[in-house]
Amino acid sequence: MLKRFAFALALLVALPLHAENQLGGIRPDTPLAEESEAPQIPPVINADVKQVRNYPDQPPLIPHKTDNYQIDLNVNKCLTCHSRTAVEDSQAPMISVTHFMDREGQTLGTVSPRRYFCTQCHVVQHDAEPPVVNGFVDVDSVLGHMQGAATGGE
Ligand code: HEC
Ligand code: HEC
Repeated sequence: MLKRFAFALALLVALPLHAENQLGGIRPDTPLAEESEAPQIPPVINADVKQVRNYPDQPPLIPHKTDNYQIDLNVNKCLTCHSRTAVEDSQAPMISVTHFMDREGQTLGTVSPRRYFCTQCHVVQHDAEPPVVNGFVDVDSVLGHMQGAATGGE
């Protein structure tokens, strides 16, 4: 009992000291008891340039701003450019055939309810340094040593 009490006491004394100097992450340099200035929200990348997909089934990233694009029961702003009938005017890529399929793989006449809320899967990118490093390796790099064989080399 006494031992436990001593341990808890030691923790209580040690924690704030430790926390004050050691907490890093996305709020570096600000002691725990102080409020840091909120960082600016970085701008959305609006370059209209397709970005590489990390694997073939990845929902492509949105290469344009989507501020105030409403998606609800009555309106879907995205479909005003990306639907089958809109692309001639908008010159946007059409939603692919998977967006018309129900979960049995049947192709419906219109966009499937599963694919109606576009931003469930498609996201914009911000011009920001990621706070956490990502060690993802593209499959082409993983397969690198096989490229020679695939193209006929030894
Ligand atoms: C005003 C027309 C318009 C609206 C509205 C619009 N888009 Fe786009 N979208 C485009 C065009 C045009 C492109 C082709 C690249 C470019 O010019 O930005 C594009 C590209 C994309 C791509 C990239 C496709 C690829 O193959 O890389 C995605 C994903 C996308 N839009 C999703 C959305 C989503 C989700 C919404 C709604 C939140 C939306 N778009 C609203 C016109 C539009
Ligand atoms: C459940 C996830 C999901 C939702 C919801 C969804 N998509 Fe996609 N989208 C994908 C995936 C995955 C791909 C790439 C593979 C494919 O075509 O299915 C894709 C591909 C696309 C492409 C590229 C098509 C091509 O042929 O290159 C466009 C454009 C697009 N989606 C727009 C939209 C729009 C607009 C909506 C809303 C009406 C939407 N998506 C809803 C997952 C989704």
